[in-house]
Amino acid sequence: MSVDQKMDGGRRQLLLATSAAGGVAAVAVAVPFVGSLTPSERAKAAGAPVEVDISKLQPGQMMTVEWRGKPVWIINRSKEMLESLKKTDELVSDPKSDKPQQPEYAKNETRSIKPEIMVAVGICTHLGCSPSDKFKTGAESGVSADWAGGFLCPCHGSTFDLAGRVYKNKPAPDNLEVPPHKYLADTKILIGDDGKA
Ligand code: FES
Repeated sequence: MSVDQKMDGGRRQLLLATSAAGGVAAVAVAVPFVGSLTPSERAKAAGAPVEVDISKLQPGQMMTVEWRGKPVWIINRSKEMLESLKKTDELVSDPKSDKPQQPEYAKNETRSIKPEIMVAVGICTHLGCSPSDKFKTGAESGVSADWAGGFLCPCHGSTFDLAGRVYKNKPAPDNLEVPPHKYLADTKILIGDDGKA
């Protein structure tokens, strides 16, 4: 069993096979003898949490891991990217994250536990396409001249800011979901389990 992690940073793309310190080890420990599991235990294993090492994720970069068959984005937001959230505050439809698409600990200005690290399910809340990252700002982004950086869903044009908040008057009704997660160490995140369930 292997889990690939994809890291995107501007034009750079780096594919990382998850190391023994990453999710594979966690899954291997959680599922020692898959053949001996009962159906309900197997179902639980399929939704097992994924441990992610973010030590190589530089400011401005994003990586994608798979959890429960869904892409989960982890973005290390630079100072400029965090600043952009103040600008987009009045442009998005649910700036305060009032709708319950994030755990309590991510119901804040940055929708995250640590301000710089964003964790979000990379699936558009309209009809389930996967939005593309558009981190460049302004006309260079190809989105609009005043684009502040974020994500564009190619299917029907919904746009999201760098906290996954959907812009007003777009087909997507809601912000991107923030999955349950927690920090196991400063650079290690567990996706899918925050110890609260
Ligand atoms: S699926 Fe994203 S805008 Fe429709």
